[in-house]
Amino acid sequence: DIEIRELFRNKEKYGDQEVVVHGWVRGNRSSNQFGFLSINDGTFFTPLQVVYEADNLANFTEISKVHLAAGVTVRGTLALTPEAKQPFEIKAKEIVVEADSQSDYPLQKKRHTMEFMREIAHLRPRSNTFSAVYRVRSIVAYAIHKFFQEQNFVYVHAPIITGSDAEGAGEMFQVTTLDPDNLPRTEDGKIDYSQDFFGKETNLTVSGQLEAEAFALAFRNVYTFGPTFRAENSNTARHASEFWMIEPEIAFADLQDDMDLAEAMVKYIITYTLEHAPEEMNFFNQFIDKGLLERLDHIVNSSFERVTYTEAVEILQKSGKEFQYPVEWGLELQTEHERYLTEEVYKKPIFVTDYPKDCKAFYMRLNDDGKTVAACDMLVPGVGEIIGGSQREERLDVLEARMKELGISENGYEWYLDLRRYGGVKHAGYGLGFERMIMYLTGMSNIRDVLPFPRTPKSAEF
Ligand code: 4AD
Ligand code: MG
Repeated sequence: DIEIRELFRNKEKYGDQEVVVHGWVRGNRSSNQFGFLSINDGTFFTPLQVVYEADNLANFTEISKVHLAAGVTVRGTLALTPEAKQPFEIKAKEIVVEADSQSDYPLQKKRHTMEFMREIAHLRPRSNTFSAVYRVRSIVAYAIHKFFQEQNFVYVHAPIITGSDAEGAGEMFQVTTLDPDNLPRTEDGKIDYSQDFFGKETNLTVSGQLEAEAFALAFRNVYTFGPTFRAENSNTARHASEFWMIEPEIAFADLQDDMDLAEAMVKYIITYTLEHAPEEMNFFNQFIDKGLLERLDHIVNSSFERVTYTEAVEILQKSGKEFQYPVEWGLELQTEHERYLTEEVYKKPIFVTDYPKDCKAFYMRLNDDGKTVAACDMLVPGVGEIIGGSQREERLDVLEARMKELGISENGYEWYLDLRRYGGVKHAGYGLGFERMIMYLTGMSNIRDVLPFPRTPKSAEF
């Protein structure tokens, strides 16, 4: 047998040849004399058209009744049809039903809402939209590895279960084997974690950054790529409780180097995906987000704007726009502010840098003004923040003072402080939200629709 991808890629080679293909039925219509099956074996975006005739198919009646989603094997001759919409078709000599499907198959041929598709997350990879999303997801993952490996970055597998809160935001899922109905207590009434599985409190990682820093100070250039978990109760189209993050960390590097790397990576991902998933990207451009390809092309060929937080606040204040949330130096930028900057002011990705230290995590390097930190967020039109990064505080005394100020106990972070004691050169890194990157690339507007089986507050089905 042969994969349908191979037939599409090298159709001339198979003209007038007999081929055997497997696939699932995506469409079936017939008259008394002949019928058309449209089948897809998952290797190629476009389905294959199979023509079958009553005169030369022994089980014509069976095939004319075969249901959507049935698995079949087709033997037939490939006929090139350069004038038709489909570049070729298979004239069937034999069709075997490997596994029929029930007539109540939920994914009938009609438009379904995204909400309905989420309810059938186990079937949706069979649809056009989701097959395109998940193939692109796979290709982007590969492109990211390729980008870093070509530059000799070392891939670090950061632990999933950790004892430290990398972001200091307290948004962690706890990992415990203690019996909730019978919690051991210390003398002062607190839960006694010394009796827990690891002998202390542990949680699912929110970020592999701290571990990546340890490895960057050994290998110079490293990256992580793995699942991260956040128990933040934000029910938005951009937040998931389980998402994937790519976190490069580079030593002997500052914030500018960090942004250069991030910009090169995003452009590489776009270029690679356009080249390796043209059918899928055309589909998104046509059905999900008109103008997508033109926009991506523009992005690859422009340089991203870099603006400080202070400048951004001024621009927003002078814009004359009525925002729902206030704009004032020291306050967080909200989604509406970020969208205004990327979609109306710059119309391309931007880096906002040097945020007030109180908006950001403890590990970011304090700037000379004593008020801001060497942070950079990459914001993009349509999605908002896709990257958060910074130069790290490499000065032991400054870091310790900052942790004290924020009430972060050094307990559990000794190893992290050690990195500053023993050759802690300047270093920087960032985290790319993998799903946000996929949203940006495909035009999909909800993070639930770019994750295979999304986990969000009050929702972890499948
Ligand atoms: O900005 P964040 O919180 O930064 C960090 O975690 C740093 N440790 C990264 C680093 O410097 N190594 O998260 C990084 C990115 C965000 O820009 C966003 O794209 C994504 O991760 N992200 C989420 N994606 C989906 N759902 C969530 N709940 C997300 N939270 C963050
Ligand atoms: Mg962030």
